Amino acid sequence: MENDASAVVAAAPHAQGGPHTDPFTPPADSSLWRKDFLIGAATASYQIEGAVNEDGRLPSIWDTYSATPGKVLAGDTGAVACDHYHRWEQDVDLLAGLGLEAYRLSTAWPRVMDEKGAPNRKGLDFYKRLLERLKEKNITTFVTLYHWDLPQHLEDRGGWLNRETAYRFADYADLMSRELHGLVDAWATLNEPWCSAYLGYCVGRHAPGLTNVRFATQAMHHLLLAHALALPVLRANDPRSHKGIVANVGRGTPNSDSAADRRAAELFEIQHNAWVLDPLFKGEYPQDLFELWPRAEPLVLDGDMQKINAPLDFLGINYYFRTNVASDGGAGFTEVPLEGVERTQMGWEVYPDGLRELLIGFKKTYVNLPPIYITENGMASNDQVIDGRVEDTQRISFLKRHLAALDQAIKAGVDVRGYFLWSLMDNFEWAFGYERRFGIVHVDYKTQQRTIKRSGELVSKFLKDRNAQAQ
Ligand code: FCB
Repeated sequence: MENDASAVVAAAPHAQGGPHTDPFTPPADSSLWRKDFLIGAATASYQIEGAVNEDGRLPSIWDTYSATPGKVLAGDTGAVACDHYHRWEQDVDLLAGLGLEAYRLSTAWPRVMDEKGAPNRKGLDFYKRLLERLKEKNITTFVTLYHWDLPQHLEDRGGWLNRETAYRFADYADLMSRELHGLVDAWATLNEPWCSAYLGYCVGRHAPGLTNVRFATQAMHHLLLAHALALPVLRANDPRSHKGIVANVGRGTPNSDSAADRRAAELFEIQHNAWVLDPLFKGEYPQDLFELWPRAEPLVLDGDMQKINAPLDFLGINYYFRTNVASDGGAGFTEVPLEGVERTQMGWEVYPDGLRELLIGFKKTYVNLPPIYITENGMASNDQVIDGRVEDTQRISFLKRHLAALDQAIKAGVDVRGYFLWSLMDNFEWAFGYERRFGIVHVDYKTQQRTIKRSGELVSKFLKDRNAQAQ
């Protein structure tokens, strides 16, 4: 790998249009122009940091999983990723230069604690320096404690199938909030417990790669318990910051108007959304889930559900696509891919209406819903640098349409306070490795050169216009 640490390429300036003449800038009446609506970008530790063997970092389940042949496309791993562990100063400059107001990052549990639970100073110092620099640049910080990189030694003792892991997570949250208090504006306990539980334990497409539905429901319960045990710890150690959790949500629509297909779409959303949101906001698992998965109820101890149902300061929502579903002829649903719809490099349908529909639906379903941040939204495309430029036309249009749908939800009364693009830069896209590019900044993995894509330039231009207007 060539070492070119200073290489951030600022693309040549485009012809400057007025604020409403480019293909991105929201219309003048959009809520996105409100200065108090936070706009930022997101990343996650394993996807960008690299340096997996440095400064006392222990192996995580993603090191193990990605080293297993056949699990990740092209055999890619997060060993180097965007080399952010060494290039973090340059990456903070990039964020600040783009005018992004907020940054959502995650901390790597195996970097900051050893097997006995003792702090690893070098790992903690990395996050301390990073967060201090972000604060110097006036960037609002959202820190996720668990974005899937479970220490392998905990997996060796059962991982999320072991109730103990939830208590170890609370210890980790205790350490982080004692060390980093004052530098974090908002803590999220978990990123997308659905992915950890379902993809990791039911279909094996994520680490640890297990395939048993009863494992999935038990892992979900222990993940939610971990969240619940960490909350009071975070509140005690860092009272000023906000505390919440991040859930991925899916829109399911029926393939036909038949009662069976409509029920299938309902079950899809119960499995994707209510499985996580009902425990958090109603204090119970949706019983319909066990119509889909008979005899898969998790073991729940007295008092667990009350703890999981504790009030939150915010809910993070990650939204990407919708799924068209039909009845599978039995008690379940099956996906029926729609023909002729727009899709991204992931094969995911571009469906901005889903974001509005889900947000309005959640507001109706959950009476005690806290303020929402869209903590991830974005798309992958096969972006290439040509003559120093990256023209990611589909992403620009994707973002514009999703921000319009979000504005509609806000105008319909949903309390959404901010929006984070996934992602700041191209990175290790889990089972899809480096092939799928989600960034508003392109990363050349051979040279680690960052190139701001056209979408990044336009987001930046909008933020600068918005700032100028607020002066
Ligand atoms: C989400 C993950 C994030 C990224 C996007 C594309 O499910 O939270 O890390 O991989 O999908």
